[in-house]
Parts: sequence; C-alpha cells; structure tokens
Amino acid sequence: MNTGIDAVAYATPRTFVSFDGEWAQKRSLVFTDGDAAALTAKVNRGIGLSQMAVPDAHEDIVTLAANAVRRLLEQSSIELQDVGHLIFATEGGVDFSKSASAYLLGALERIPSLAKGGPGSTSHICNVEMKFACVGSSYALEYATALLRSGMSSKKYVVVVSSDVARYERESNAEYTQGAGAVAFALCQNPSLVTLDPTPMAVASADERDFFRPLFKDTPTVDGKHSVGVYLNLVEKAYQNHCNNYFKQKLKASDSDVLADTAAFLFHVPFPKMAEYMAARIFLPFFEDVSEISEEQRNEKETDFRKSSDFRSIFEEKVEPGLTLSRKIGNIYSGSLPLCLASVLKGASETQTELVGRRVIFFGYGSGACARVYSGVFGGGCEHAGKIIGQGARGFDRELSVSEYERLHALHSLQAEPCAIDPGVDSVVKPSGEIASFGSLAEPVEKVGLRDYRYVG
Ligand code: CAA
Repeated sequence: MNTGIDAVAYATPRTFVSFDGEWAQKRSLVFTDGDAAALTAKVNRGIGLSQMAVPDAHEDIVTLAANAVRRLLEQSSIELQDVGHLIFATEGGVDFSKSASAYLLGALERIPSLAKGGPGSTSHICNVEMKFACVGSSYALEYATALLRSGMSSKKYVVVVSSDVARYERESNAEYTQGAGAVAFALCQNPSLVTLDPTPMAVASADERDFFRPLFKDTPTVDGKHSVGVYLNLVEKAYQNHCNNYFKQKLKASDSDVLADTAAFLFHVPFPKMAEYMAARIFLPFFEDVSEISEEQRNEKETDFRKSSDFRSIFEEKVEPGLTLSRKIGNIYSGSLPLCLASVLKGASETQTELVGRRVIFFGYGSGACARVYSGVFGGGCEHAGKIIGQGARGFDRELSVSEYERLHALHSLQAEPCAIDPGVDSVVKPSGEIASFGSLAEPVEKVGLRDYRYVG
C-alpha cells in the first residue's frame, strides 16, 4: 500500500535578527575582538546562516504549530473532519503533563475559518505529543505511516506538525544557531508528494550527553563539538543500515545508482554547515574506500573532500536546495528536517527542476541520541505544492534591534511563576487574524499555570 506525504506547509515568526547588523557589532566584542565583519563572515560562511527567526512575545510552539496546520488545511482544502490523528513533534513542550497537541486542537477550534463547529468540533481527533529532541518528527512520521498502512486510521488524513523554538544562552557560540518555526505534513494513502519506501526506517541509537535540557534549565546544556561528532557517527550508521537493508538488498542498487537516482539528500539542519559535514561523510565513500583508515585521517580527508569540485557539484545539486529556508530561519529542532522538504519543493518549482519519480532520502537526528534514515519517491504533486508553499507564509518583515531581541529572549525563559503576556503591549508586531499566546494564568487556583491561547481578530 502506498503511503506518505500529501501536503506540506510551514510557519515562522515575522521577527528576526540579521547577522550583518547591530548584532554582529555587539557580539564581535565577545567573539572576534570587535571585528564585526569577521563575525558576520564566520556566521554566514562558516555556520551557513544569514539571519535567525526570533519568536515574538505572543508566539510559542503552539501558536507556530497552529499557523502551520491552518495553512496546511486551507491550502490543500483538507477539512478537520477528514483528519483522524494529529501528532505534535517537539523538542520542548509547554507543560510536563498536558500535551501540546491538546492545546493545539483547542487553538484550531478558535480559528473561525477552520473549525466551523466551534468548541468540540475536533473531538474526533486522536492527538499526542512526541518528543525525542530533533528526531521526534521522524518518529511521528513513522507512527503516522504505521497508522495508515495498518488501517488503524479512521479518517483519510494523519497530520504531523513539528514545532520548536531553539534557544541557547546569549553570547554563547550556539546563540547564532537559534531559530523558531513549525512545519506541518498531511499524510495519507496514495500521496501526491512523497511515497515513503515500503521498508522499516533505519535506526542507530546511543545513550549520549551531547545536548540535553534538564528540568531546571531554560536553555540546553550542550557540548557543541562533541554533538557534531555524535551526529556524524550515528547518522552514518543508520544510513549504512538503510543502504544494506533496502537499497542493496531489495533494490539491488549500488552506491553510484543511489547517488544517480536521488534528487535530494535531506539532513537534519542544526545549522547549514552541519549538512555539509554530513554530506561529506556520506559521499566520500562513493569516491574512495575509507573503511581501513583512522578517524583522524578520515576527518582530514573529509575536510579536503568538501573543497573538491566533485563534492561541490553534488552538494549544490542534491543538498543545497534543501537548505535555503534554514539559512534564514535557523534551527527549528524537530521541524528542521521537514523544513528541508518544503525548501526543496519551493526551490524546484522556482528553477523548474523535475522531481517526479526521483528518490529523496531523509536523515533524521536527535541528540541524546538517535538517528533515523528513510527514503521515498517524489510524486506528481510536487510542482503545484512548490508553487503554493510560499504563498501566504508570513515573510520576515521586522528586523529586531539587539535590545528588542534580548527582551524577547528573556521573556521566553521558562517561567517558574505563572506569567501573563499582553500581546498589545509585549509584542513587537501585534498579532492579527491569528492565534496568540497570552502566557499562563495566575488564577483561579484550579487554573494556575494553564496556558492561555486566544484568537486575535
Ligand atoms: N569565514 C568563513 N568561515 C569561518 C570563519 C570566517 N571568518 N571563521 C570560522 N569559520 C569556519 C570554521 O573554519 C569552521 O568551518 P570548518 O569546519 O569547515 O573548518 C566553521 O566556521 C565553524 O567554526 P567553529 O567550529 O569554530 O564554530 P563555533 O565555535 O561557532 O561552534 C557549534 C559551532 C559547535 C556547532 C556551536 O554553534 C554549537 O554548539 N551549536 C549548538 C549545538 C549543535 O548545533 N550541534 C549540532 C549537532 S547536535 C544536533 O544536531 C541537535 C540539534 O539540533 C541541536
């Protein structure tokens, strides 16, 4: 039975910080001895980012998810009545117990154009939050596919939304890899965008300490360089499993067949340069045998290989189109890999690149740690999806000053106490025609800490 992705939409905040302006001037005092141009060059070319999305005061994972799901349903003319399951993948969550998916359903019911029936109109939707750092979205996709393949989905569609706000300590070398956004997929049988290959998703797991956020902290504890190594090793292992179990055994395809047949290698993107490191790890063995050399020698070879014309041409054709949106949005944790698919579809429609019938490989990674690798084949709906994917997506239209950004960064700290937000006062761009977070309630006693989402007309 063919199952997979039938529609895609994404949402971002409107507010952003650019890495070539005031931020670079201020942070160059911390990182590059006051040389702002050197810092901008490092972040643009060394990390791969030109700016980062910053959530406004009224935005969080639930409001971003509501915007993405709303666009998904409206653009694809999918009725909430036809959605049987809604799976919310996130690194973060907004409550230790109450599922973000329950808050999301409540939010959707408040959008007048969507839930015509108002309160109770989504009561038929099974919903759950799934968490495993950034790889939760791949687990959500696996669950969605299992529901559809087994016939356990009572309705035509399963919706997966992956939504996160990536926050690190200010003035740390992870600060410029922050971001915020949500990506929604509708999955069904006989999908128009990507039919997932009929094989189990490959896996490589390990109990790791590369990146974690203990309950008492509002930013992660991260060992950046170590996290890059864990990512490379686990994703490589999962990819080898997928190659052996599916490409080689079932399709009888060689490495060069896989390279030729695959239009898009989509990697989890904590920052775009990471996709380059990973691509070199995957592509180098297509050119030479590195199985017998030491790790150090291999790292050196990969660094040289990244500069070669062989690598650059494959990368430009098969990886770069997936990174366009990430370069402006930054890391959106669980949504980063799904965002690559949106980016490829959008780019292919702009450059009139034919995707239909060609393969796409997904490389998921979540710290802690787990890699999932899976693949599929692009379908006939890609061109149309690529055309509409950017329509109605709110672009970035408000650059933040450093003081505005730092105020929002502080406001989004996990609050030990209930914290009311007044978008009319606290937000830089006031919400309009959308779901907004009003923070959490301080009273009455039975509602202390309950999050307050309202539709602002
Ligand atoms: N011009 C061009 N390039 C420059 C430059 C300049 N002026 N200055 C430096 N560079 C290059 C460096 O040469 C280097 O490139 P190469 O590797 O090709 O040599 C690149 O910039 C990066 O330099 P650094 O390694 O010194 O970068 P950094 O100190 O900024 O740290 C980081 C990078 C460790 C990833 C840090 O940003 C971090 O800790 N980020 C958070 C953790 C993270 O994202 N980990 C990724 C794996 S874990 C994961 O994927 C889960 C997740 O989402 C978090």
